[in-house]
Amino acid sequence: MKKLGVAVIGTGFWGKNHARNYKELSSTELVAICDVNPERAKTVADQFGVKAYTNSTQMLKNKEIEAISVCTWSTHLAKEALKALNAGKHVLVEKPMATNTKQAQKLCDTAEQNGLHLTVGFLMRFIPGLQAIRESVENKKIGQLVCANAKRVSQWPERIGDVGVVKDTAIHDIDVMRFISKQDPITVYAKMGNMKHLKFEDYAHIMLTYKSGESAFIESNWLTPYKTRLLTVTGSEAIMRLDYITQDLWIEMQKETVQPRYQFQEPLKAELQHFADCILEKKKPLITGEDGVKALEVAQAAMQSSAKNRAIKLES
Ligand SMILES: NC(=O)c1ccc[n+]([C@@H]2O[C@H](COP(=O)([O-])OP(=O)(O)OC[C@H]3O[C@@H](n4cnc5c(N)ncnc54)[C@H](O)[C@@H]3O)[C@@H](O)[C@H]2O)c1
Repeated sequence: MKKLGVAVIGTGFWGKNHARNYKELSSTELVAICDVNPERAKTVADQFGVKAYTNSTQMLKNKEIEAISVCTWSTHLAKEALKALNAGKHVLVEKPMATNTKQAQKLCDTAEQNGLHLTVGFLMRFIPGLQAIRESVENKKIGQLVCANAKRVSQWPERIGDVGVVKDTAIHDIDVMRFISKQDPITVYAKMGNMKHLKFEDYAHIMLTYKSGESAFIESNWLTPYKTRLLTVTGSEAIMRLDYITQDLWIEMQKETVQPRYQFQEPLKAELQHFADCILEKKKPLITGEDGVKALEVAQAAMQSSAKNRAIKLES
């Protein structure tokens, strides 16, 4: 079977994991990596036995490379993703995809014009427990959906210095809420601020409301000494709770609690496998560039809401 030639731009903490998974997957061939830090580029390239670049423009000339993962600092993602799309490569761009919706939309338009796949690194969607929640909400297995609560808190990962906790962290939950409810919120109200981080918000509380009456609440911070990643979805007949770290899922009903078991899988591996399959089999990816634009739109509205201390209405 033909393997998909891939490369990674930005091989820090997260890009290294992309490189490792591409190396491990049977459908992909890691061709090269690129990092502006020459020592890092060399170390990672040597580790995986591929060619190192410090300039992505040079690397993108390589015809063996058909698809790219963009894992640079968040404020460089859109620029690098655009270069890759203009060079005719399919792109998986990490979240938050871009600094604003205008840049993100430009990526979608460029991918569309060039007939290329564009997907965004919302890897929570590849966790089987979250897929079960979405399916249960859709089929009303938990009755009528009432609300969803997400908690994603930890210490500040100090390497992240160019965005705050909303675009770095809460954006996962913003996407999760869209994924499980299959709707966009109509209003966003948020309160955020910075306690320890000098430049960006390090805590945020975001409330989303929906046309049919449901609501969602997202708590995110970089102030908690330990890492918690939880989702609770309340329906009229049952509650579903997911721990993203252990991937444990609980379904709590009036008389019993059940805990379905799913085989633990590395969400990044599933995400990259899906990206490669979509390209090789010419299928539409589960997560599109438009999903990235929508998540950024809600993140921007949350920031605006907190600054103006009022709810922001979103266009439906
Ligand atoms: N989907 C997820 O769950 C998830 C998890 C972690 C990180 N991320 C995302 O991945 C991205 C990277 O995060 P990280 O934690 O690895 O950060 P990091 O600082 O550890 O690594 C970023 C790397 O990119 C390199 N770089 C920056 N700009 C570049 C450019 N223009 N060209 C080439 N190399 C460049 C840096 O030298 C560095 O090695 C961020 O956008 C982050 O939001 C996503």
